Amino acid sequence: PRARLTIDPDFTIAPVPRRLFGSFVEHMGRGVYTGIYEPGHPKADADGLRTDVLDLVRELGPTVVRYPGGNFVSGYYWEDGVGPKDQRPRRLDRAWRTIETNEFGLGEFSRWTRAAGTEPMMAVNLGTRGVQEACDILEYANHAGGTKYSDLRRAHGDAEPFDIKLWCLGNEMDGPWQVGHKTAAEYGRLAAETARAMRLVDPSIELVACGSSKYAMPTFGEWERVVLEETYDQVDYISAHAYYQEDDDGPHSTGDFLASARDMDVFIEAVVATADAVRARGKHRKRIDISFDEWNVWYQSRHRASAIAKGESEWEVAPRVIEDEYSITDAVVVGTLLNSLLRHGDRVTVACQAQLVNVIGLLRSEPGGAAWKQPIAHPFEQVRRRATGEILAVRTRGDRYESPRFGDVDVVDAAGTWDAESGVVSLFLANRDQAEPATVEVGVRGFGELRVQHAAVLAADEGQDRHTTNDEQHPDRVGMRPLDGVQVADGTAQLTLPPLSWAVVQLV
Ligand code: AHR
Repeated sequence: PRARLTIDPDFTIAPVPRRLFGSFVEHMGRGVYTGIYEPGHPKADADGLRTDVLDLVRELGPTVVRYPGGNFVSGYYWEDGVGPKDQRPRRLDRAWRTIETNEFGLGEFSRWTRAAGTEPMMAVNLGTRGVQEACDILEYANHAGGTKYSDLRRAHGDAEPFDIKLWCLGNEMDGPWQVGHKTAAEYGRLAAETARAMRLVDPSIELVACGSSKYAMPTFGEWERVVLEETYDQVDYISAHAYYQEDDDGPHSTGDFLASARDMDVFIEAVVATADAVRARGKHRKRIDISFDEWNVWYQSRHRASAIAKGESEWEVAPRVIEDEYSITDAVVVGTLLNSLLRHGDRVTVACQAQLVNVIGLLRSEPGGAAWKQPIAHPFEQVRRRATGEILAVRTRGDRYESPRFGDVDVVDAAGTWDAESGVVSLFLANRDQAEPATVEVGVRGFGELRVQHAAVLAADEGQDRHTTNDEQHPDRVGMRPLDGVQVADGTAQLTLPPLSWAVVQLV
């Protein structure tokens, strides 16, 4: 396959939103316990935070981390997770059929985000709780002192407010699986009133209303319309969630799976259209952006078959749940999903890859053992590090193929950024062809003289195939390798992408 891309400094989409490279830590499986927190682990610090995991998190550099759920938040009592640890109750977490010990809570999370150098994003429980409890946790987190909950925080050893700006009004409230699931009208009213009251506590916060938990939800579109009709003046973002998988025995071929970003493009554009229709109808000046606060590859068909999903498991503390092991193919798909988010960075201004550790994680960690990066961590880290400045509108002309599920897709998927200050042009490119290399030409004449600064690719090395993954013994088996042969001459960059690969090329 061949592709001809054209970019120009005059054709930009928006500044790269800093919060586009977020992740997510849920009280689910081993996301928290033996994930980011494991007192007694040889590498744990005095607070029980795993410093080996923290080191890897700092390398990945998620700019924002959402917490504490997910479905978990819809039955959560945040008060259980603060104060002296020996007085914290154990509870049944109905979302994941797990015993929650509450050893880790809001205070620990705040310490962890400071240590990780990331911004916290909190979700409040609008499943089993409501306006008052949302205001209480906000008062505990953000109010300086002199009131019941702010003084409680101070008594718990945190004199300074946590100053959390981003708050999610519940989680996936459109999903029948959600504890406290609601209709769009029920949720819209509750979200609007909760938002209004929270803003009275702290007017500086930014609020996310729940959108659809996937594009395929039967209520998609109508849900967004009704929720935004109720909440438009009170919120800043509407959320979107999407998970993709390759179905081993099912109808979805590898070609479909590799086209997942096409579905994400269409989903985002549909949410934008719906939000803008509500804006037009209500004659609102303000624009609602998207918080794509859960996205990833997730082999949900395997999860649905599990005892936990079927409600047949024992109640356990921190069981192994959806610890998907990611392959080269998954990493290429994650790279294209990042490209989709970047292409829509004018409207998707918050995004959280789900999740950070163990649970469909960028990272894996073993209890008492090592921590390592999954293949999907590499495109995440590369885009987070290298996408700076302005997002470029990349014009792609080239070979396409038909995905039965998602329609006509480019074989070469592309996104790019241009940092006017440093002069660096960054291109993020995937070759979806599983058998053949792709020849790519990039028209860069508008940038003047350019040379190659950096070029790296994730693909199957000698002796590997598209299913190759990393594990505790081979933590670096899949990663970024040099991409040789990139050339720039006469306003055109030329390169070849190996079959089934994701690459980053920087020119300056
Ligand atoms: O990320 C795993 C789960 O996926 C979250 O708890 C939920 O919000 C979504 O369905």
